[in-house]
Amino acid sequence: MNVLIIGSGGREHVFAWKIAQSPKLNQLFVAQGNAGTANCGTNVNIAVNDFDAIKNFVLENNISLVVVGPEDPLVNGIHDYFLADDAVKNVQVIGPQKEAAKLEGSKEFAKLFMLRHGIPTAKHASFVKENIDDGFAFLETLHPPYVLKADGLAAGKGVLILENLEKAKNELREMLESEKFGSASSKVVIEEFLDGIELSVFVLTDGNSYKILPEAKDYKRIGEGDTGLNTGGMGAISPVPFADAEFMQKVEDSIVKPTIEGLQKDGIPYKGFVFIGLMNVDGNPYVIEYNVRMGDPECEVVIPRIKSDFLELLEGVANGNLFEKTFEIDERSVATVMLVSGGYPEAYEKGKVMSGLGDVQNSILFHAGTKQDGEDIVTNGGRVIAITSYGNDFEGALNQSYANAKKITFEEKYYRKDLGFDLKGKEKVTS
Ligand code: AMP
Ligand code: GLY
Repeated sequence: MNVLIIGSGGREHVFAWKIAQSPKLNQLFVAQGNAGTANCGTNVNIAVNDFDAIKNFVLENNISLVVVGPEDPLVNGIHDYFLADDAVKNVQVIGPQKEAAKLEGSKEFAKLFMLRHGIPTAKHASFVKENIDDGFAFLETLHPPYVLKADGLAAGKGVLILENLEKAKNELREMLESEKFGSASSKVVIEEFLDGIELSVFVLTDGNSYKILPEAKDYKRIGEGDTGLNTGGMGAISPVPFADAEFMQKVEDSIVKPTIEGLQKDGIPYKGFVFIGLMNVDGNPYVIEYNVRMGDPECEVVIPRIKSDFLELLEGVANGNLFEKTFEIDERSVATVMLVSGGYPEAYEKGKVMSGLGDVQNSILFHAGTKQDGEDIVTNGGRVIAITSYGNDFEGALNQSYANAKKITFEEKYYRKDLGFDLKGKEKVTS
């Protein structure tokens, strides 16, 4: 079959790498892709939200499966667009329709969904400009730190955690009255702070049955010791040592099952990935957020642990027979280290020539922000390239990635050298 992947980051390179291994694949295309995806298939110069151009490309190239990487086209309704058009309604789209994508596109929608279906999450209330005084009063009932979330998509920046009441009230005013995050913050969710350690759980579902993919932990802050600004993600590991069988059973029973059943009860179809951001509070999981896609860089450690044919699994999602598909997991640990451009996540330069890529051994390189420039591969984003390795434990996997991180050079390269620092001494030897 011919497959089109939508997106151009590390996550999409992982999808391309894995799908390219399937005997079921005929031709693979990636829109827009990067220098890495060009080695797995053909890059196509179409923007992720240009649905008309995507449809025309699908028809011209006899594509039967479209895999959507990022949230933006999902929230904008790419799946609904396909279903509404007779010419492409039989083309399978991996990624939920607009209604379900609200689980990521609206924090309030997600909170009400969890409340309705008894899924553990932080207590919350939502406010708009007109009832800001109620928001101040609600803040006064909570204990610090205070968590404020813009309801809509805010490029990963819409969550603020404030240490004192006065700052929290000021930020609430900024968000509601000065539209700090544009229309995304015309409504604000205020919630109780959850004190624990985070991890991410991924579910692949056809709307009825599901497979729980390997869990992962990502490192979001730019600085060592989890300090400084939030980024798209500086690295990840899987499995997560504290996510033992007992904890994962709680996740399945109290979160995954009620989520899939909740979608069914609400009459919301869902074909794709559910990314559940969790907090482990004293051994019990609470949902921090849903995303309707794979995480990045979590994808760079989760998918390499799937041994089964990925295209076969995606076909199961599309056809509603995921339960019939074999699903085998590699027991080894996998880690990824992200090399980023100097200055990221603030201003940074692009176009730096990369070298040493060919010297990397016993790791897999997933390109995030790169492009081919004549003979050279040059940097083309903040997050540049992810170095993924296998090991008997996360430390072994990380060491392998770090050895290779030294071999790749480009001007102002930066990466965190302390990944896994919070898990030391908790290794789960897996083979
Ligand atoms: P989100 O965009 O909802 O994932 O939030 C961004 C980050 O804020 C999360 O990864 C958590 O580290 C933190 N966070 C969000 N909600 C809470 C909460 N209720 N308690 C503690 N930390 C939170
Ligand atoms: N790594 C977090 C995300 O993909 O949103």
